[in-house]
Amino acid sequence: MRPVSIRPVANSSGVEGVRAFAQEIGVEAKDVHGVVADTEVIILAIPLPAMRGLPADLFDSVPPDVTVIDTSNYYPGMRDSPVSEIDAGMEESVWVSKQLGRPVIKAFNNALAYTLAELGQPEGTPGRLAIAVAGDDVRSKQTAMELVNQTGFDPVDAGALEESWRQQPSTPSYCCDYEADTMRKALAAAIPGAAPKKRDQMPELFANLGSNPSHDDVIAMNRKVNSVVDEAL
Ligand SMILES: NC(=O)c1ccc[n+]([C@@H]2O[C@H](COP(=O)([O-])OP(=O)(O)OC[C@H]3O[C@@H](n4cnc5c(N)ncnc54)[C@H](OP(=O)(O)O)[C@@H]3O)[C@@H](O)[C@H]2O)c1
Repeated sequence: MRPVSIRPVANSSGVEGVRAFAQEIGVEAKDVHGVVADTEVIILAIPLPAMRGLPADLFDSVPPDVTVIDTSNYYPGMRDSPVSEIDAGMEESVWVSKQLGRPVIKAFNNALAYTLAELGQPEGTPGRLAIAVAGDDVRSKQTAMELVNQTGFDPVDAGALEESWRQQPSTPSYCCDYEADTMRKALAAAIPGAAPKKRDQMPELFANLGSNPSHDDVIAMNRKVNSVVDEAL
């Protein structure tokens, strides 16, 4: 795979609405149809409920071998409007895949923005952090794993998309800045159905950190609350 080159970016406001941000990060501004055209990889980093509002024909002319990466997390009641299927147990990215009508790979969701922006390291660096990647299509998952690697993180294969509940909010692997070995153990230690209860306590737990917690504060809290030890490691 060629080195990562993120070209166009889009938001919900059309070309003019995204232009300032595109200029800031040095890429081209497009609308949502333009951003999915003529590309090898599409990264969806929009609020999960907004998937419902994407144009119904958005992927009609996108070839099936284009990899679609879903970075979503679901925070009902805090940030996101409720999604009954997910509340009933459907994996977040399985729901996203159904909204889009095509397969997705779940990646980049279990790292905080600060981690993604600041803590990447070249391949082979001791202590390099890991990111989980789940999905069904072998080639697309390989592409997503290579992208994770090129962005500075060790990709950890987290299994099929239906296993991706293991990397959702408040699971042991979620936003704890772990290296690959610990990430694998954390994914394996997740208990079905345990995370939503912890996730729903997040506003209270964040309030306890004060008004301006550091990245390290948040990671320490996540490691404690989502503890791999608690979940039978
Ligand atoms: N931030 C993090 O630390 C982080 C880390 C890992 C994963 N994630 C996950 O990634 C997803 C996005 O998070 P975020 O923090 O980046 O959210 P965000 O800042 O609220 O939204 C990201 C982008 O989505 C665009 N957007 C919203 N609705 C849209 C639509 N209908 N069509 C096209 N673009 C739309 C927004 O622009 P406009 O509203 O102007 O259109 C914005 O540019 C969430 O599920 C989040 O949990 C976030």
